[in-house]
Amino acid sequence: MTESITRIAVTGGAGQIAYSLLFRLAAGELLGLQTPIALHILEIPEALSALEGVKMELQDCAFPLLRQVRIGSDPYEIFSGVHYAFLVGAKPRGPGMERKDLLAENGKIFVEQGRALNDVADKNVRVLVVGNPCNTNCLITLHNAPGLNPDHFHAMTRLDQNRAVHLLSQKASCEVTDIEKMTIWGNHSNTQVPDYFNARIQNQPAVSVIQERDWFESEFIPRVQQRGALIIKARGKSSAASAASAAIDAMRAWLVPTPINSWFSTALFTHKNPYGIDSNLVFSFPCVSTGKNDCKIVSAVQWNEVLEQKIKTTEKELIEERDQIMEYL
Ligand code: NAD
Ligand code: LMR
Repeated sequence: MTESITRIAVTGGAGQIAYSLLFRLAAGELLGLQTPIALHILEIPEALSALEGVKMELQDCAFPLLRQVRIGSDPYEIFSGVHYAFLVGAKPRGPGMERKDLLAENGKIFVEQGRALNDVADKNVRVLVVGNPCNTNCLITLHNAPGLNPDHFHAMTRLDQNRAVHLLSQKASCEVTDIEKMTIWGNHSNTQVPDYFNARIQNQPAVSVIQERDWFESEFIPRVQQRGALIIKARGKSSAASAASAAIDAMRAWLVPTPINSWFSTALFTHKNPYGIDSNLVFSFPCVSTGKNDCKIVSAVQWNEVLEQKIKTTEKELIEERDQIMEYL
């Protein structure tokens, strides 16, 4: 009998996020220890020789589940038959830049990659866009893949969720696993809304465990929003291992049942969203999965006036980003 192999594409394969992500995928951290995989890795032609080195290292790990490594610079070849695609390849921002400053340069990458996925990927492919500005790049990708299910495209706000969870656990002196329902609403940018109103700590409202409203507004929110910039300042490069880890968390969230009384954050196409957000954006919501490669937005999470105003601000920013790239849709 022919063995069934799950095919995973990663773009930007010679970059810093991929250097962590690829090895964790090959070790079985996405699909578990029973699923043989093939890695399909895309790079620009100038970086193919560096990618050849990454391929050699993957081979030298002798990962028991890794059946094949394909590398190349043509997305129509590399995306052929893939079941999962991590779209990481794009330029990162430098010090002093906002992520949306990358839109002009990075946006066009996702036109071509959306078209290629549309034409050659498995029809049920799940796509996670990591390259910034990831929400709007994801919008570009799904518009250029009209033959695929738009609900199968998401953009990564899981790193923001993980950052927020860690901060809350530090402040409340508890474990990260004690934090639930940590929503990031909106854009993966400094307008994102880390929602402390609905977050829970040891099954209590976060605001009743940490009774310092001022801390949430003046420390918690800005620290989550600015964490990426702080890492760039400290490392001279943007986050990489934590981004790879969040990418696995984000894709895996669709593959394991979400615990009861919990949810995760991911950015999805808004065409069916229950919150009245503009219907042509990719926006981060609280979501749940039954564990069968599905994802549903949790409806009826309460917004107070403060939260609503912040959510409107991040929505407005996404509309402005979309206005800049209308030609790509
Ligand atoms: P990097 O510069 O180290 O690597 C990017 C790689 O992408 C490079 O090797 C480059 O050659 C390649 N590339 C460029 N255009 C490509 C294309 N058209 N096809 C295939 N590959 C291409 O950058 P990095 O640190 O790995 O970050 C990658 C992206 O991820 C950046 O845009 C960064 O801002 C973003 N990022 C997002 C999050 C998030 O939470 N969503 C977190 C961290 C980084
Ligand atoms: C992050 O949040 O670390 C990434 O989006 C990189 C960046 O530009 O901040």
